[in-house]
Amino acid sequence: MPRHVLLLLSGPNLNLLGTRQPEIYGTDTLQDHVDAARRAAIERDWDLEHRQSNHEGDLVDAVHAAIGRVEAIVINPGALTHYGWSLHDALAAFGGPIVELHLSEPRKRERWRHLSVVEPLASARVAGEGGAGYPRAVALAIEAATGAGSAAG
Ligand code: DQA
Repeated sequence: MPRHVLLLLSGPNLNLLGTRQPEIYGTDTLQDHVDAARRAAIERDWDLEHRQSNHEGDLVDAVHAAIGRVEAIVINPGALTHYGWSLHDALAAFGGPIVELHLSEPRKRERWRHLSVVEPLASARVAGEGGAGYPRAVALAIEAATGAGSAAG
């Protein structure tokens, strides 16, 4: 049975979650978050693909490969959030719903984190909820892609 596919993208340094600044990002690993996101997708009968890279061009390539194949993107761009204009341009070409996701709330941190190049393209933004944000972002992306309410199975 063909299923809908959602792409979860993780930017630089998120591979270090679990040990990276746990006072800000918590102790769960990226795999823990991906597992929680995937459960939220499967509950809604969607597949979830995940890609993490420390290189902006890899993420640009992943967005290009998603065009016409993937129906929604959830992205935690890491620090690329704040200056990754080629990632912005790739996402602008995607065409489907995009949900911006952060573990912390960048707007409550250093001033350079207050700008998001992804935000103008995003149908929703989830930030400051820690790991709970992953399944919520998936739910919002699927909702945006299908027009379904949050209670949709
Ligand atoms: C982050 C916030 C960014 O400012 C930071 O560079 C990250 C993680 C978050 O999930 O809170 O790498 O996107």
